[in-house]
Amino acid sequence: MDNGVVCVTGGTGFVASWLIMRLLRHGYAVNTTVRTDHTSMFHEAHLGNYCLLGGQKKDVSYLTNLPGAPERLRIFYADLDNPESFNDSIQGCVGVFHVAHTIDFEVKEDVETITDRSINATISILQACAVSKTVKRVVYTSSAATVMFSGKDLGVLDETSWTDVDVVRSLRTVRESYYISKTLTERAALEFAETHGLDLITLLPPFIHGPFITPHFPGSVRTSMSMIIADDENPFEFSSNTSFVHMDDVATAHIFLFEYPNARGRYICSGADITLEDFPKFLRERYPEYKISLTRFQKKLKDSKTVRLSSKKLLETGFKFRYGLEHMYDDAIKCCKQKGLL
Ligand SMILES: NC(=O)c1ccc[n+]([C@@H]2O[C@H](COP(=O)([O-])OP(=O)(O)OC[C@H]3O[C@@H](n4cnc5c(N)ncnc54)[C@H](OP(=O)(O)O)[C@@H]3O)[C@@H](O)[C@H]2O)c1
Repeated sequence: MDNGVVCVTGGTGFVASWLIMRLLRHGYAVNTTVRTDHTSMFHEAHLGNYCLLGGQKKDVSYLTNLPGAPERLRIFYADLDNPESFNDSIQGCVGVFHVAHTIDFEVKEDVETITDRSINATISILQACAVSKTVKRVVYTSSAATVMFSGKDLGVLDETSWTDVDVVRSLRTVRESYYISKTLTERAALEFAETHGLDLITLLPPFIHGPFITPHFPGSVRTSMSMIIADDENPFEFSSNTSFVHMDDVATAHIFLFEYPNARGRYICSGADITLEDFPKFLRERYPEYKISLTRFQKKLKDSKTVRLSSKKLLETGFKFRYGLEHMYDDAIKCCKQKGLL
């Protein structure tokens, strides 16, 4: 099976690494990008060791050891701060999955810096795709955060809903730069695609949960595990219910929409949701070995509104979610145990 070459940006990340694994299994050759010129601490505190990464020393063995990788995975160096650095990885590709994004909940950089970086790099990547003559479709990993904060009480949200930047600002959250940069990047990307006749699909997952192959503890898995690991620092925010999707369903949805001939525009990809009341009950019953209690952030959410996400548009394509909330937690717990995080 030879499906051609696709590019996945940000290969070291939680979502991209799993997607690469699935693309290799689906018979694609994969060009992926990693950045090398940062010297931030790689957060392996929970693995018991820190390693300083810089220059060429980044450990990508969890990618290079994947089945099919020696023959069909190529690693390129690219940074969102240098948008044209992605060009080489896109050359000759039939598709591009743009996944890389600066996620900064420690508020190290301001909203404008992160948003400008994201938009400039994304538009540059789309430009490279438009002139490539080989790229048939681009899939951008957006986020359910781009529909959730419209300021209107819409009940069940679908792809017609857009987050309002002023509403996000009024929330005063450490995730402000994330919500705003994802919203404005997705809008800019869709506008560019419309103007230039580029086939672009955007995928909007809520919390992605389940297993992971990265050495670091992915932020969304960590938040999802907060009632189990007694983590009060990584909150669920703003809604008295929470929506989730399994990592493997997200990867499958990326590939499915890349291949589905009639795919158009935005797709919410939400596999399950649970209310604040049912959440601790579910965890206590299924995992009696752990002490489960609401985090201090969840306690504040009791009177907040319920935000539901509709995946109807995705389901109408014939896509099927394979995993419920039980699987997400079973798989995440198993994976955390294997990595010594639990
Ligand atoms: N996880 C979720 O629940 C969730 C939900 C909805 C949407 N998403 C979207 O999924 C995508 C991946 O998220 P994730 O959860 O996998 O997060 P992640 O593990 O933190 O991955 C982010 C990736 O982006 C790369 N990156 C960050 N800044 C960069 C820069 N300046 N230049 C080049 N690469 C850069 C990171 O590289 P380093 O490894 O070098 O830092 C990493 O590979 C994001 O677009 C996010 O918005 C995630």
